[in-house]
Amino acid sequence: MSRPRAFITREIFPDALEMIRAEVDAEVWPDELPPPPDVLLEECRGVDGILCLLTDKIDGDFMDAVGPQLKVISQLAVGFDNIYIPDATRHGIPVGNTPEVLTHTTADAAWALLLAAARRIGEGERAVRAGNWRTWHPLHYLGQDVYGATLGIIGMGRIGFEVARRSLGFNMRVLYSDIVRQEQYEAQLPMEYVDIDTLLSQSDFVSLNTVLNSSTHHLIDAEALGKMKPTSVLVNASRGPIVDQQALYEALRDGEIGAAGLDVTDPEPIREDDPLLTLENCVIVPHIASASVATRREMSRIAAVNLLNGIKGERLITCVNPEVYI
Ligand code: DGY
Repeated sequence: MSRPRAFITREIFPDALEMIRAEVDAEVWPDELPPPPDVLLEECRGVDGILCLLTDKIDGDFMDAVGPQLKVISQLAVGFDNIYIPDATRHGIPVGNTPEVLTHTTADAAWALLLAAARRIGEGERAVRAGNWRTWHPLHYLGQDVYGATLGIIGMGRIGFEVARRSLGFNMRVLYSDIVRQEQYEAQLPMEYVDIDTLLSQSDFVSLNTVLNSSTHHLIDAEALGKMKPTSVLVNASRGPIVDQQALYEALRDGEIGAAGLDVTDPEPIREDDPLLTLENCVIVPHIASASVATRREMSRIAAVNLLNGIKGERLITCVNPEVYI
Protein backbone atom coordinates (compact mmCIF):
# COMPACT_ATOMS: atom_id res chain seq x y z
CA MET A 1 0.00 0.00 0.00
CA SER A 2 1.41 3.43 -0.90
CA ARG A 3 2.32 5.79 1.88
CA PRO A 4 0.43 9.04 2.45
CA ARG A 5 1.96 12.20 1.00
CA ALA A 6 2.60 15.58 2.55
CA PHE A 7 4.05 18.90 1.45
CA ILE A 8 6.05 20.99 3.88
CA THR A 9 6.35 24.56 2.72
CA ARG A 10 9.75 25.32 4.33
CA GLU A 11 12.62 23.63 6.08
CA ILE A 12 11.76 22.70 9.70
CA PHE A 13 13.77 21.21 12.57
CA PRO A 14 15.34 17.90 11.40
CA ASP A 15 13.92 15.83 14.28
CA ALA A 16 10.39 16.94 13.37
CA LEU A 17 10.99 16.14 9.70
CA GLU A 18 12.36 12.72 10.63
CA MET A 19 9.22 12.03 12.67
CA ILE A 20 7.09 12.89 9.64
CA ARG A 21 9.17 10.90 7.19
CA ALA A 22 8.93 7.79 9.36
CA GLU A 23 5.26 7.58 8.35
CA VAL A 24 4.71 9.81 5.33
CA ASP A 25 6.37 10.65 2.00
CA ALA A 26 7.08 14.31 2.58
CA GLU A 27 8.45 16.86 0.13
CA VAL A 28 10.02 19.97 1.62
CA TRP A 29 10.22 23.31 -0.20
CA PRO A 30 13.97 23.90 -0.08
CA ASP A 31 14.19 27.64 -0.69
CA GLU A 32 14.48 30.37 1.91
CA LEU A 33 11.60 32.28 0.31
CA PRO A 34 8.04 30.92 0.18
CA PRO A 35 6.92 29.06 -2.93
CA PRO A 36 4.97 31.36 -5.29
CA PRO A 37 1.21 30.61 -5.02
CA ASP A 38 1.01 28.69 -8.34
CA VAL A 39 4.05 26.59 -7.44
CA LEU A 40 2.66 25.91 -3.96
CA LEU A 41 -0.53 24.64 -5.53
CA GLU A 42 1.31 22.38 -7.98
CA GLU A 43 3.40 20.95 -5.15
CA CYS A 44 0.34 20.34 -2.98
CA ARG A 45 -1.95 18.75 -5.60
CA GLY A 46 -2.90 15.26 -4.44
CA VAL A 47 -1.26 15.41 -1.00
CA ASP A 48 -2.92 14.14 2.18
CA GLY A 49 -1.48 16.85 4.41
CA ILE A 50 0.15 20.27 4.25
CA LEU A 51 2.49 21.75 6.84
CA CYS A 52 2.53 25.49 6.15
CA LEU A 53 3.69 28.83 7.49
CA LEU A 54 2.07 32.21 7.92
CA THR A 55 3.50 33.27 4.54
CA ASP A 56 1.40 30.68 2.65
CA LYS A 57 -2.11 31.79 1.68
CA ILE A 58 -4.57 28.91 1.80
CA ASP A 59 -8.24 29.41 0.94
CA GLY A 60 -11.14 27.32 -0.27
CA ASP A 61 -10.17 27.44 -3.97
CA PHE A 62 -6.72 26.21 -3.01
CA MET A 63 -8.22 23.36 -0.96
CA ASP A 64 -10.49 22.38 -3.87
CA ALA A 65 -7.54 22.36 -6.25
CA VAL A 66 -5.39 20.25 -3.90
CA GLY A 67 -8.15 17.64 -3.95
CA PRO A 68 -10.66 15.80 -1.78
CA GLN A 69 -7.96 13.55 -0.26
CA LEU A 70 -6.58 16.54 1.73
CA LYS A 71 -7.02 15.62 5.40
CA VAL A 72 -5.13 18.24 7.36
CA ILE A 73 -3.51 21.68 7.27
CA SER A 74 -0.91 22.08 9.96
CA GLN A 75 0.31 25.62 10.52
CA LEU A 76 3.69 26.23 12.12
CA ALA A 77 2.59 29.36 14.03
CA VAL A 78 -0.02 30.30 16.57
CA GLY A 79 -1.62 32.88 14.23
CA PHE A 80 -3.50 31.52 11.24
CA ASP A 81 -4.89 34.57 9.40
CA ASN A 82 -3.27 33.24 6.20
CA ILE A 83 -5.68 30.28 6.21
CA TYR A 84 -9.35 30.77 5.50
CA ILE A 85 -10.77 28.74 8.38
CA PRO A 86 -14.48 28.72 7.39
CA ASP A 87 -13.46 27.10 4.08
CA ALA A 88 -11.36 24.47 5.87
CA THR A 89 -14.27 23.72 8.20
CA ARG A 90 -16.67 23.48 5.26
CA HIS A 91 -14.27 20.99 3.66
CA GLY A 92 -14.09 19.05 6.97
CA ILE A 93 -10.35 19.73 7.15
CA PRO A 94 -8.89 20.27 10.64
CA VAL A 95 -6.38 23.10 10.88
CA GLY A 96 -3.62 22.85 13.49
CA ASN A 97 -1.53 25.64 14.99
CA THR A 98 1.20 25.92 17.64
CA PRO A 99 -0.15 27.87 20.63
CA GLU A 100 1.33 28.10 24.14
CA VAL A 101 4.86 26.96 23.31
CA LEU A 102 5.72 30.40 21.98
CA THR A 103 3.92 32.47 24.60
CA HIS A 104 6.91 33.28 26.81
CA THR A 105 9.32 33.73 23.92
CA THR A 106 6.96 36.17 22.22
CA ALA A 107 6.28 38.10 25.44
CA ASP A 108 10.04 38.38 26.01
CA ALA A 109 10.43 39.81 22.51
CA ALA A 110 7.61 42.33 23.03
CA TRP A 111 9.51 43.53 26.10
CA ALA A 112 12.77 43.68 24.16
CA LEU A 113 11.06 45.97 21.65
CA LEU A 114 9.44 48.04 24.40
CA LEU A 115 12.75 48.65 26.14
CA ALA A 116 14.65 49.21 22.91
CA ALA A 117 12.13 51.78 21.69
CA ALA A 118 11.83 53.47 25.11
CA ARG A 119 15.59 53.81 25.55
CA ARG A 120 16.57 54.48 21.92
CA ILE A 121 18.71 51.36 21.74
CA GLY A 122 18.50 50.96 17.96
CA GLU A 123 19.36 54.58 17.34
CA GLY A 124 22.27 54.44 19.78
CA GLU A 125 23.64 51.26 18.29
CA ARG A 126 23.46 52.67 14.77
CA ALA A 127 25.30 55.79 15.95
CA VAL A 128 28.10 53.76 17.56
CA ARG A 129 28.59 51.63 14.44
CA ALA A 130 28.62 54.73 12.24
CA GLY A 131 31.41 56.27 14.34
CA ASN A 132 29.12 58.96 15.76
CA TRP A 133 29.75 58.32 19.48
CA ARG A 134 31.75 61.44 20.20
CA THR A 135 31.17 62.08 23.91
CA TRP A 136 28.90 61.61 26.93
CA HIS A 137 26.37 64.41 26.80
CA PRO A 138 23.68 65.27 29.37
CA LEU A 139 21.11 65.84 26.64
CA HIS A 140 21.87 63.03 24.22
CA TYR A 141 19.68 59.97 23.62
CA LEU A 142 17.09 60.82 26.24
CA GLY A 143 14.34 58.24 26.33
CA GLN A 144 11.35 57.33 28.49
CA ASP A 145 11.45 55.62 31.88
CA VAL A 146 9.72 52.26 32.04
CA TYR A 147 9.81 51.73 35.82
CA GLY A 148 6.59 52.95 37.39
CA ALA A 149 4.96 53.83 34.06
CA THR A 150 1.57 52.67 32.75
CA LEU A 151 1.40 49.72 30.37
CA GLY A 152 -1.68 49.26 28.19
CA ILE A 153 -2.26 45.87 26.62
CA ILE A 154 -4.68 45.48 23.74
CA GLY A 155 -5.68 41.81 23.63
CA MET A 156 -5.48 40.02 26.99
CA GLY A 157 -4.85 36.47 25.81
CA ARG A 158 -1.98 34.18 26.72
CA ILE A 159 0.73 36.43 25.27
CA GLY A 160 -0.87 39.65 26.52
CA PHE A 161 -0.99 38.19 30.01
CA GLU A 162 2.69 37.23 29.91
CA VAL A 163 3.57 40.75 28.71
CA ALA A 164 1.61 42.03 31.72
CA ARG A 165 3.30 39.59 34.11
CA ARG A 166 6.74 40.84 33.06
CA SER A 167 5.74 44.37 34.06
CA LEU A 168 5.64 43.39 37.75
CA GLY A 169 9.41 43.82 37.94
CA PHE A 170 8.97 47.34 36.59
CA ASN A 171 6.29 48.27 39.12
CA MET A 172 3.87 49.33 36.40
CA ARG A 173 0.16 50.07 36.39
CA VAL A 174 -1.44 47.72 33.87
CA LEU A 175 -4.51 48.57 31.80
CA TYR A 176 -6.00 46.21 29.26
CA SER A 177 -8.76 46.16 26.72
CA ASP A 178 -10.32 43.20 24.98
CA ILE A 179 -13.69 42.31 23.53
CA VAL A 180 -14.61 40.72 26.86
CA ARG A 181 -13.30 41.08 30.38
CA GLN A 182 -10.69 38.41 31.20
CA GLU A 183 -11.41 37.68 34.84
CA GLN A 184 -9.15 34.62 35.00
CA TYR A 185 -6.19 36.91 34.27
CA GLU A 186 -7.40 39.70 36.57
CA ALA A 187 -7.46 37.13 39.38
CA GLN A 188 -3.74 36.53 38.90
CA LEU A 189 -2.35 40.04 38.43
CA PRO A 190 -3.43 43.56 39.32
CA MET A 191 -4.79 45.01 36.07
CA GLU A 192 -7.65 47.28 35.07
CA TYR A 193 -10.13 46.49 32.29
CA VAL A 194 -10.74 49.75 30.40
CA ASP A 195 -12.16 50.84 27.06
CA ILE A 196 -9.65 51.33 24.29
CA ASP A 197 -9.83 55.15 24.36
CA THR A 198 -8.94 55.20 28.06
CA LEU A 199 -6.11 52.75 27.42
CA LEU A 200 -4.70 54.81 24.56
CA SER A 201 -4.88 58.10 26.41
CA GLN A 202 -3.51 56.89 29.76
CA SER A 203 -0.79 54.42 28.75
CA ASP A 204 2.88 55.26 28.43
CA PHE A 205 3.40 51.97 26.58
CA VAL A 206 0.80 50.29 24.38
CA SER A 207 1.40 46.65 23.49
CA LEU A 208 -0.67 45.03 20.73
CA ASN A 209 -1.32 41.38 21.49
CA THR A 210 -4.51 40.74 19.64
CA VAL A 211 -5.36 38.55 16.66
CA LEU A 212 -5.79 39.98 13.18
CA ASN A 213 -9.36 39.85 11.90
CA SER A 214 -11.81 42.22 10.26
CA SER A 215 -12.44 44.08 13.52
CA THR A 216 -8.77 44.55 14.42
CA HIS A 217 -7.56 45.49 10.92
CA HIS A 218 -6.18 49.07 11.25
CA LEU A 219 -7.41 49.18 14.86
CA ILE A 220 -4.49 51.55 15.42
CA ASP A 221 -5.21 54.22 12.83
CA ALA A 222 -4.59 57.99 12.77
CA GLU A 223 -7.46 58.61 15.16
CA ALA A 224 -6.22 56.01 17.68
CA LEU A 225 -2.65 57.31 17.45
CA GLY A 226 -3.98 60.82 18.02
CA LYS A 227 -5.35 59.69 21.39
CA MET A 228 -1.95 58.48 22.63
CA LYS A 229 0.46 60.58 24.67
CA PRO A 230 3.19 62.40 22.69
CA THR A 231 5.77 60.42 24.69
CA SER A 232 4.09 57.03 24.40
CA VAL A 233 5.62 53.95 22.83
CA LEU A 234 3.68 51.53 20.62
CA VAL A 235 4.79 47.88 20.52
CA ASN A 236 3.44 45.45 17.93
CA ALA A 237 4.37 41.78 18.16
CA SER A 238 1.05 40.52 16.77
CA ARG A 239 0.26 41.23 13.11
CA GLY A 240 1.29 44.17 10.92
CA PRO A 241 -2.13 45.09 9.47
CA ILE A 242 -3.49 45.85 12.96
CA VAL A 243 -1.65 49.17 12.54
CA ASP A 244 -2.24 51.63 9.71
CA GLN A 245 1.43 51.93 8.82
CA GLN A 246 1.21 55.25 6.96
CA ALA A 247 -0.62 56.76 9.95
CA LEU A 248 2.04 55.35 12.27
CA TYR A 249 4.78 56.90 10.14
CA GLU A 250 3.08 60.30 10.30
CA ALA A 251 2.48 60.05 14.07
CA LEU A 252 6.13 59.15 14.72
CA ARG A 253 7.42 61.80 12.32
CA ASP A 254 5.23 64.53 13.77
CA GLY A 255 5.83 63.65 17.43
CA GLU A 256 2.23 62.60 18.05
CA ILE A 257 3.69 59.55 19.77
CA GLY A 258 7.25 59.02 21.00
CA ALA A 259 8.46 55.77 19.50
CA ALA A 260 7.48 52.35 18.19
CA GLY A 261 8.87 48.85 18.38
CA LEU A 262 7.66 46.56 15.62
CA ASP A 263 8.16 42.84 15.15
CA VAL A 264 5.60 42.82 12.35
CA THR A 265 4.83 45.12 9.43
CA ASP A 266 2.43 45.40 6.51
CA PRO A 267 3.52 43.99 4.13
CA GLU A 268 6.20 41.58 5.26
CA PRO A 269 8.97 42.02 4.55
CA ILE A 270 8.63 45.79 4.84
CA ARG A 271 9.30 47.56 1.53
CA GLU A 272 12.80 48.98 1.21
CA ASP A 273 11.34 52.43 0.50
CA ASP A 274 8.88 52.40 3.39
CA PRO A 275 9.20 55.80 5.11
CA LEU A 276 9.20 54.10 8.54
CA LEU A 277 12.74 52.99 7.76
CA THR A 278 13.85 56.62 7.68
CA LEU A 279 12.82 57.26 11.28
CA GLU A 280 15.20 56.92 14.21
CA ASN A 281 12.34 56.48 16.69
CA CYS A 282 11.12 53.22 15.18
CA VAL A 283 12.73 49.89 16.01
CA ILE A 284 11.86 47.21 13.45
CA VAL A 285 12.85 43.54 13.53
CA PRO A 286 11.90 40.86 10.96
CA HIS A 287 9.01 38.99 12.66
CA ILE A 288 11.25 37.11 15.07
CA ALA A 289 9.25 37.23 18.30
CA SER A 290 8.97 33.43 18.54
CA ALA A 291 12.48 32.81 17.26
CA SER A 292 14.29 31.03 20.06
CA VAL A 293 15.92 27.67 19.42
CA ALA A 294 13.77 25.80 21.95
CA THR A 295 10.52 27.43 20.86
CA ARG A 296 10.99 26.95 17.13
CA ARG A 297 12.00 23.31 17.76
CA GLU A 298 8.84 22.73 19.80
CA MET A 299 6.71 24.54 17.19
CA SER A 300 8.18 22.20 14.56
CA ARG A 301 7.40 19.16 16.71
CA ILE A 302 3.79 20.19 17.36
CA ALA A 303 3.22 21.00 13.69
CA ALA A 304 4.64 17.57 12.79
CA VAL A 305 2.38 15.78 15.29
CA ASN A 306 -0.66 17.69 14.02
CA LEU A 307 0.23 16.79 10.44
CA LEU A 308 0.61 13.10 11.25
CA ASN A 309 -2.50 12.95 13.43
CA GLY A 310 -4.58 14.60 10.73
CA ILE A 311 -3.29 12.27 8.03
CA LYS A 312 -4.12 9.26 10.23
CA GLY A 313 -7.61 10.62 10.95
CA GLU A 314 -6.75 11.23 14.60
CA ARG A 315 -7.59 14.41 16.51
CA LEU A 316 -5.00 17.20 16.25
CA ILE A 317 -3.36 18.13 19.55
CA THR A 318 -4.05 21.82 18.87
CA CYS A 319 -6.90 22.46 16.46
CA VAL A 320 -8.28 25.89 15.56
CA ASN A 321 -11.54 24.56 14.12
CA PRO A 322 -12.57 21.72 16.47
CA GLU A 323 -16.08 21.98 15.05
CA VAL A 324 -14.87 19.64 12.27
CA TYR A 325 -15.02 16.86 14.85
CA ILE A 326 -18.69 17.37 15.72
C1 DGY B 1 2.88 33.20 15.21
O1 DGY B 1 3.14 32.08 15.65
O2 DGY B 1 1.76 33.51 14.83
C2 DGY B 1 3.98 34.20 15.16
O3 DGY B 1 3.62 35.37 14.55
C3 DGY B 1 5.21 33.60 14.55
O4 DGY B 1 5.72 32.75 15.48
